[in-house]
Amino acid sequence: MSYLDQIDKGRIPKHIAVIMDGNGRWAKKQNLDRTFGHKEGIAAVRRAIEGASRAQVAYLTLYTFSTENWKRPEEEVKALMALMVQAVANETPELVKNNVRVKVIGDIDRLPEDTRNALDYCLKTTSVCTGTTVILALSYSSKWELTKAMKDIAADVKSGQLDANDINETLIGSYLGTKGIPDPDILIRTGGEFRVSNFLLWQIAYSELYFTDELWPDFKEESLYKAIIDFQNRERRFGKTSEQISGKP
Ligand code: IPE
Ligand code: IPE
Ligand code: MG
Repeated sequence: MSYLDQIDKGRIPKHIAVIMDGNGRWAKKQNLDRTFGHKEGIAAVRRAIEGASRAQVAYLTLYTFSTENWKRPEEEVKALMALMVQAVANETPELVKNNVRVKVIGDIDRLPEDTRNALDYCLKTTSVCTGTTVILALSYSSKWELTKAMKDIAADVKSGQLDANDINETLIGSYLGTKGIPDPDILIRTGGEFRVSNFLLWQIAYSELYFTDELWPDFKEESLYKAIIDFQNRERRFGKTSEQISGKP
């Protein structure tokens, strides 16, 4: 039985977030430049999106480029930005065909103009799609997002648009890039590291964490299905007892 068939279709996670790590090591293993790893990583992104779409996952958030990644060698950053322009342009027709809507979270203003233009085109073109929503976290870090939210809240309190007493968890969520999107049910990290690298810190408060040694360019549709099956075998208690969750004494 394939992994897809083993998934309980009645309990599909609504939102899967992925830290796509290991491109550089994948390339290094075969004596190639890190950029080759990023190129292969794009094929893995395609497989992850197709997998999420096939499994009818409503939201897939992909950590594509972090605030901290700006500190990488200039050449690598340039290569990544160029690859992004290419990939976004190449993939847009297929995304539309698969009814996939694309959104972006992060400090987009820091991206080069051609990258922003390619993204804008993709966002506009796919905005009519009603299937899986893919959220690209680009020039994103959670601390950046939370800092921005705090500044925006402070400005709205100062201008009188918001009463400080009305600040609660729901309101804070509405000042984040992920506004209106349910928190991730699973956070997947490939590449074998056990850390969250400044990704969705607020939103993953109760996510199930799934770590795999597989390097991102090796990630397959089946890898995603395996993670979903693993998730479905866990008991999410949200602070309650197992008995409360199962309803059994
Ligand atoms: C993830 O792969 C891609 C980005 C962070 C842009 P890495 O480039 O971090 O690959 P490793 O971790 O060095 O193998
Ligand atoms: C996390 O990978 C960021 C992305 C996948 C875009 P990194 O490779 O940058 O993470 P660290 O710095 O090793 O934690
Ligand atoms: Mg890495």
